[in-house]
Amino acid sequence: MSKIVIIGSISMDLVMETSRIAQEGETVFGDRFSMVPGGKGANQAVAVGRLASKEDHITMLGAVGQDSYGPILLQNLEENGVSTAFVGTVPQSSGVAQITIFNQDNRIIYCPGANGTVDTDKWDKEWEGIAAADLVILQNEIPHEPNLAIAQFCSEKGVKVLYNPGPARSTDKEMIDFVHYLTPNEHECQEIFGQDNLEQLLKQYPNKLICTLGAKGSVFFDGTTIQEIPAIPAKVVDTTGAGDTFNGALGLALTKKMPLEEALKFASLASHLSVEKFGAQGGMPRLEEMKEHPAYEEKWNLK
Ligand code: RIB
Repeated sequence: MSKIVIIGSISMDLVMETSRIAQEGETVFGDRFSMVPGGKGANQAVAVGRLASKEDHITMLGAVGQDSYGPILLQNLEENGVSTAFVGTVPQSSGVAQITIFNQDNRIIYCPGANGTVDTDKWDKEWEGIAAADLVILQNEIPHEPNLAIAQFCSEKGVKVLYNPGPARSTDKEMIDFVHYLTPNEHECQEIFGQDNLEQLLKQYPNKLICTLGAKGSVFFDGTTIQEIPAIPAKVVDTTGAGDTFNGALGLALTKKMPLEEALKFASLASHLSVEKFGAQGGMPRLEEMKEHPAYEEKWNLK
């Protein structure tokens, strides 16, 4: 049984698909509009929830707004096997991400709303839940202060943290000593460390720094060699949430005691499946779908 706590943003994604991008002062016609649940935190929680077994305990911590989106976002988490007992409803608007899909890629403007109010000072029972977890997953769409307080608490209590520093911010380095896994993409890596030589950087953080490289896969240093985990080529429909699927699947696999290299292959398969459908959460696979794929490995032995 795995106990995973995901702490972070819960947002509504307002998605416009377009074949033209508006210039300043210009109006263009979009092709299609959709409103789908998103937010890096909730996406990662749903990724875990879909892959988890009935015995696992998957819990989300965060906040939604007192608006029409709040109940929809809560219901979506529950329907995907994620407990919302520790998600507050605050007198704010819910987090919103305005997403433009153009040229098979996305551009996102994120407004935190309720996500920006997450504050550990008001927590009580939440700390007990965190202390009992096998893994805590964090990202950067809630403020840095609660993230740092949680990471420090987890480090004191011996709870592992998987930290996905997206979007990157200048304070991210303060988190590194307190987390077990750090999963920036190439761009975030550059912003956090300001270093071009990825190999040298990976060698400073063996089995900890995992850099994701989009269609090229992911890479880490195992203490002896640089390990490259290739991505599985996909018929891309929407890359939004691919990184979140990867992080959620990676987190679940690690709590099932998979070695890091295998856990990354598992995560790679999950994100491959996710980009073949629309929406941040639309393509996130269930374990049964993973098992039907030729790249699924029986030795992973997940139930
Ligand atoms: O990682 C993708 C997510 O980031 C989207 O669902 C959107 O909410 C954005 O903030």
